[in-house]
Amino acid sequence: MRLGVNIDHVATVREARQIDEPDPVAAAVLVDLAGAYGIVCHLREDRRHIKDRDVYFLREIVKSHLNLEMAATDEMVKIAIDLKPEMVTLVPEKREELTTEGGLEIAGSQEHLREVISQLQKHRIVTSLFIEPDIKQIKASARVQTDYVELHTGRYANLRSKKSISEELEKIKSAAIAASKLGLGVSAGHGLNYQNVHEIAKIREIEELNIGHSIVGRALFVGMEKAVREMMDLIK
Ligand code: PXP
Repeated sequence: MRLGVNIDHVATVREARQIDEPDPVAAAVLVDLAGAYGIVCHLREDRRHIKDRDVYFLREIVKSHLNLEMAATDEMVKIAIDLKPEMVTLVPEKREELTTEGGLEIAGSQEHLREVISQLQKHRIVTSLFIEPDIKQIKASARVQTDYVELHTGRYANLRSKKSISEELEKIKSAAIAASKLGLGVSAGHGLNYQNVHEIAKIREIEELNIGHSIVGRALFVGMEKAVREMMDLIK
């Protein structure tokens, strides 16, 4: 199973002071040295953490796999086509949210998403849709011909009772199997940490995990390379 490390929150710390450090680009170098599969970052419409300058520097230095999370807007599609990350993950975006709260509601914007996906694919960018682990969303994802879906694990991460956790795990597992049967690549992420990643990592159909907050948080205490290696050991 591959690990993509989301470095947005290195930029969050920088933006707390609105100066030029810590630099998410330096973090990406360390993530790469630790042997992660790739770097993930989210260029939000409001540029609250990652900025345009960051994604262009990241493109220069990330030789492994750059996954750009973005909303399916004209502005972002233009940037992605210019930047040429290996993968674009389309996510819903709400201005007031603290983090990406839910998955995409594909059925409501099927034509638009199909158009955006086709534009990105024409430029040899692999596409992924961030969705809830729900069969309706998976079928709709296949209809709009995305390459991958990323299953939202935020609900799983927030649950506390054993019963509800195991029910949500079953949902994620069935969603991963259904997506894989439809020929979609499968990744997962959001809210995963050193305690809860194990059960998700057991799901064979999931090829890739995208993890940010917990790795950046641990890196404060043990350093970025160690934090990344510890996560890779857990998901192996
Ligand atoms: N995947 C997607 C699509 C996301 O939007 C995020 C958060 O930016 C993540 C994964 C990583 O979530 P976390 O920071 O909670 O690990």
